[in-house]
Amino acid sequence: MCGIVGYIGYRDAWPVIIKGLRRLEYRGYDSAGVALLDGSLKTYKKTGKVSELEGFAEGKDKTGTIGMGHTRWATHGEPSDRNSHPHQSGDGRLSIIHNGIIENYATLKEALIARGHVFKSETDTEVLIHLIEAIQKADNLDLSEAVRVALAKVIGAYAIVVMSQDEPDLLIAARKGSPMVIGVGENEYFIASDASPIVEYTKNVIYLKDNQIAAIKRDELIVKSIDNIIQTPSIHELSLKLEMLEKGGFDHFMLKEIYEQPRSIKDCMRGRIYANEGKVQLGGIKDYTEKLKNADRIIIIACGTSWHAGLVGEYLIEEYARVPVEVEYASEFRYRNPIISEKDIVVAISQSGETADTMAAIELAKEKGATIFGICNVVGSSIPRITHAGVYTHAGPEIGVASTKAFTAQVSVLTLMALYIAQQRGTINQAEMVNMLTELDEIPSLVEKCLKTDEKIRVISEKLKDSTNCLFLGRGSGFPVALEGALKLKEISYIHAEGYPAAEMKHGPIALIDEDMPVIFIATKNSSYEKVISNIQEVKARKGKVIAIVTEGDKEVKKMADYIIEIPDTNEAYLPLLATIPLQLLAYNIAVMRGCNVDQPRNLAKSVTVE
Ligand code: F6R
Repeated sequence: MCGIVGYIGYRDAWPVIIKGLRRLEYRGYDSAGVALLDGSLKTYKKTGKVSELEGFAEGKDKTGTIGMGHTRWATHGEPSDRNSHPHQSGDGRLSIIHNGIIENYATLKEALIARGHVFKSETDTEVLIHLIEAIQKADNLDLSEAVRVALAKVIGAYAIVVMSQDEPDLLIAARKGSPMVIGVGENEYFIASDASPIVEYTKNVIYLKDNQIAAIKRDELIVKSIDNIIQTPSIHELSLKLEMLEKGGFDHFMLKEIYEQPRSIKDCMRGRIYANEGKVQLGGIKDYTEKLKNADRIIIIACGTSWHAGLVGEYLIEEYARVPVEVEYASEFRYRNPIISEKDIVVAISQSGETADTMAAIELAKEKGATIFGICNVVGSSIPRITHAGVYTHAGPEIGVASTKAFTAQVSVLTLMALYIAQQRGTINQAEMVNMLTELDEIPSLVEKCLKTDEKIRVISEKLKDSTNCLFLGRGSGFPVALEGALKLKEISYIHAEGYPAAEMKHGPIALIDEDMPVIFIATKNSSYEKVISNIQEVKARKGKVIAIVTEGDKEVKKMADYIIEIPDTNEAYLPLLATIPLQLLAYNIAVMRGCNVDQPRNLAKSVTVE
């Protein structure tokens, strides 16, 4: 949700920043802008994608070895050139980029207007740079101190970078609630919302913490707290590799990420499954076995696709570990005064590890004494820092805005967690555990087989691409798969799609069924197979078009469905890991056929750091 990049060193800043912005574009693409400092401030900003900014700046002066750039996901003020970052102070001598929301901006703005400040945009960010300017002038402070004093007056979330024409060899960076990474090179520093713009220059990074401010010169980095206490930052080594951030021959990141799933699921399970011994090891939560044994309840909190993974987790944990599980939207949970006790374990799921609602829900549960586990993908992100313990999904960077490999990795971790808890609580016997793990070990190669459905799915996609609505139906853990299939389709193809428990169809959605309504069924051979067949008949009786995900060799559904997509047979517990793959491919192919921007669907951003 807004991406920020900064550079100070000996290289030309413009190409470093533009390349960085392209890597961060998944965070928002309403507008982009760059400011360079080379004696004076030069600012270029434009509505639209980074490529439009590049076109706009073509032939203009882009010299400077200090600079910063921003890619915006609009919150305050429509996407426009005027509202794009960087924003300047009233006298034009200071410049800022910002990711986050200044909640008390209206009050601050009113006070500044009363003091004669004139604003050019509707953004909260411009208010902050005017505030810094006012404080600097009133108290004759240097930039670092003026930023620190101003931030003490701010309520909200931010990651900011500030530059001043009067201190031309300095970048100030600060964060609270929004991510910020500083890359440490030789006589150069890089700043970014995540490590992706940094990794090709240096592997050494500092994760700035909340309420820290960094004053960065070419050969010096000083970090202070907002209370003016010097901090000693620790330097971490990135394990991220550059090729993980490239499309690697695929047309889109989303397709690459779909095809990476056999590998990403394997990476997620590596070192955690000991099939022969019938044992699961989860190092990240091993110190909490007593808590797990005695937990009254597990509450899963998440948003979007991660919430769907949570629903799969509910089925698995209740089935195998016999602990009651509740799955909550983080955004609802945080505002409804939930009942939480010290014997509850809260599991927060998030690909980005930065989702604002999930973070707020974690803080709330923590205050009430629950033990919090995180399931996150981005190493070093905020959620793993605020949870008591957790398990990384190790899916690798997910760049396509629509989540694919992160979902299957989350489901894989939840599967491991369910079996781990069952093992701790003694609700599964050794022989069953050996069988379960042996089958789980085979999932990556079965996912590989699911990917072979792509060609057939393209034929089906051709038939469905002009639909205006689609229904996805499933039962048991096929229900969250249906929800996820519907979300994938609607977010990247803009076809209206709904996921429903198949049995619920007759309580309302059946009214929508006619010859123009494609209904996608999860109809694999499992405990609800016969029931799903009845639901398929109900749809066929009303002339609905049926597309069914079935188990290889299925004969029953084949007789009724208009199209079938076969996936390999597996333990019912692992159905979501396989059945999701064709639905991802279906959404992808339809979106491509409709000419949609698959990797950057309209209005969306990958990392939702505002509530
Ligand atoms: C959908 C999608 C979103 C995210 C949601 C939560 O494809 O990606 O629904 O799942 O915004 O994000 P994380 O998992 O980063 O907390």
